[in-house]
Amino acid sequence: MKTDTILAQAGSRRDPLTGAISMPIHPSAAFQHPALGRSTGFDYSRTSNPTRKALEETIAALEGGAGAFAFSSGLAALDAVFRLFSPGDAVVVTEDLYGGTYRLLEKFSRFLNLDFLYLDTSDTAAVVKILEQPGIKGLFVESPSNPFLKVADLEALGKATRERGILFIVDNTFLTPVLCRPMDFGADITVYSATKYLGGHNDLIAGLAVARSKDVSDRLGFIQNATGAVLGPFESWLLLRSLKTLPLRLKKHEENARNAASFLAGHKHVKKMYYPGLPDNPGNAVLARQSAGFGAMIAFEVDSRARVEHILSSVKVFMFAESLGAPESLITFPLVQTHADMDAAVLDRLGLHDRLLRLSIGLEDPSDLLGDLAAVLE
Ligand SMILES: Cc1ncc(COP(=O)(O)O)c(C=O)c1O
Repeated sequence: MKTDTILAQAGSRRDPLTGAISMPIHPSAAFQHPALGRSTGFDYSRTSNPTRKALEETIAALEGGAGAFAFSSGLAALDAVFRLFSPGDAVVVTEDLYGGTYRLLEKFSRFLNLDFLYLDTSDTAAVVKILEQPGIKGLFVESPSNPFLKVADLEALGKATRERGILFIVDNTFLTPVLCRPMDFGADITVYSATKYLGGHNDLIAGLAVARSKDVSDRLGFIQNATGAVLGPFESWLLLRSLKTLPLRLKKHEENARNAASFLAGHKHVKKMYYPGLPDNPGNAVLARQSAGFGAMIAFEVDSRARVEHILSSVKVFMFAESLGAPESLITFPLVQTHADMDAAVLDRLGLHDRLLRLSIGLEDPSDLLGDLAAVLE
């Protein structure tokens, strides 16, 4: 079935007993066995739960992966994925990535004796060169990256990692499998903060990890059960319900984002734009090749810190908050919000300073969004 059909019928046809069209929520912690050596397929909900399984199978089908796993947050999914590595392994990582992922890697995963090498992963030649170093076992790419929305060439990186037997992981949160399927280009694992577009309503925290091969899927399933940060049945159901409208929502998100980006790009107080949907953005052509859309995240720089403060306290349609991918348009100040835990030297090197703002463009009427931007920029 095609993507829209898989999504429209997410969780349907799974309850022959009642014929329920909406996947039932199964809050049961444990499941009764008919007899010794016989099972309904479910024993204990940390290991597997029918509602979570319906979600996981939907996502695996969407991506064309051997297995998918739903976690209690995007970071829990990432934590499970990084546990696939062994002590002494090195992983190449996108340098401008979500600050919480940086915190997970730098302040936590290093206890697993892993080494992380940060790089601009939109620079394919630089990535391919570093992959030659001994001990590199993984490549983790956030694309488009956060907050500068740089685009990695998934096909080129998929080829380079495959040739060297390196595990290729893509955080595809900003695009979702509706727009881009990284496994088609050679990714071994995709990861999502499902809190964002997949959940899409600012009302749940969830994460997903999808594995292309059965081997990686089995190992991830083992880690999920062994560490236990699973998604509960109610949130699994909520996510299944949200998935049904994902293609429609993404169309409107992107249409609104294109309008907002064109408006901002021509504004006298906007000094720099970061939106891969703009034709002069360095990632525009690559993203057009590997994605059915450019997404709805925009970053931009204004001319002064004072203007940032004015904007954040004056917005009336945008809300000053730290998330993305929901109907409500949000404005975020990465330096003090999403990227607050990055070391000052790293922020400096990336150019992530106090004049940078990030927008998650929502589903409101475009004239209200543009009106708000126009008012606060004056
Ligand atoms: C790209 C990206 N990956 C992962 C995460 C972490 O997800 P969660 O907040 O669901 O733990 C986020 C959160 O903002 C994100 O933006």
